[in-house]
Amino acid sequence: LYALSSGNFFWSVMNAIIGMMDSGVGGLTILREVRKMLPVHPVVYLADQAHVPYGERSLEEVRGFAREITRYLIAQGARLIVVACNTASVAALRMLRNEFPDTPFVGMEPAVKPAAEQTRSGVVGVLATHATFQGEVYSSVVERFAAGVTLLQDHCPGLVARIENGDLQGPETEAILRKALIPMLEKGADTIVLGCTHYPFVIPLIRRITGPAVRVIDPAPAIARQTRRLLEESGLMAGKGESAALRMLTTGSAENLASVIPILLAETHAVESVTWQENRLV
Ligand code: DGL
Repeated sequence: LYALSSGNFFWSVMNAIIGMMDSGVGGLTILREVRKMLPVHPVVYLADQAHVPYGERSLEEVRGFAREITRYLIAQGARLIVVACNTASVAALRMLRNEFPDTPFVGMEPAVKPAAEQTRSGVVGVLATHATFQGEVYSSVVERFAAGVTLLQDHCPGLVARIENGDLQGPETEAILRKALIPMLEKGADTIVLGCTHYPFVIPLIRRITGPAVRVIDPAPAIARQTRRLLEESGLMAGKGESAALRMLTTGSAENLASVIPILLAETHAVESVTWQENRLV
């Protein structure tokens, strides 16, 4: 009996670890909402900066990265995984759920549904990566939810790289966004969907370009709610407690990431490095 209760004790002090992945810093827009809502759950965040941007790669290649990152996060103790990247979700979510049936996954899809419900002009702009627009998930979302709505798409070439460098306000970042948004505004768009997790970092700039009347849909709070729901359903939800540890890992330069995090999150973090060897993370 003693052994049993001490075993339970250990389980109760170690709250379920949430694993999160993105090609780079984009998933940090999801991470900050998840931390706000679920501070007692430890998080292991992996930025695959050796391969960023995912959006210019084939879905098959991204699928391979996502599979190995998932294996690695589970090996680090993750009990639930948030694929905090639209591109990786479009490419790999279905496969991940099949191949790792014991792990609950939270994935992303461009928020076309709420946009279609909320638009008054019937014109919606969608900003996402090239790969996301190619995937079946996108065409299915459009088919199911956007009947009668005009969708204007732009993949904002170069924007992910600007954000990876912490350039959220500079002239090059602004030029990329103007080029995408002005034609959308001219065609009457009143709602803009951020279909790439990097883009919420440039919401202030987007608002400066669109003005206050245009609605900008950031999916991050909904993803945090979905994470909470799935923790509850899986019996992994922790009670109240102290705020838990956050581990940040990158397959790129740990030093670079550590220097950009304060710009993005207004706090500092140590960053560990992980290396791709052949197709394995070590
Ligand atoms: N943040 C990612 C997304 O949500 C990918 C950006 C990229 O690496 O191209 O799509």
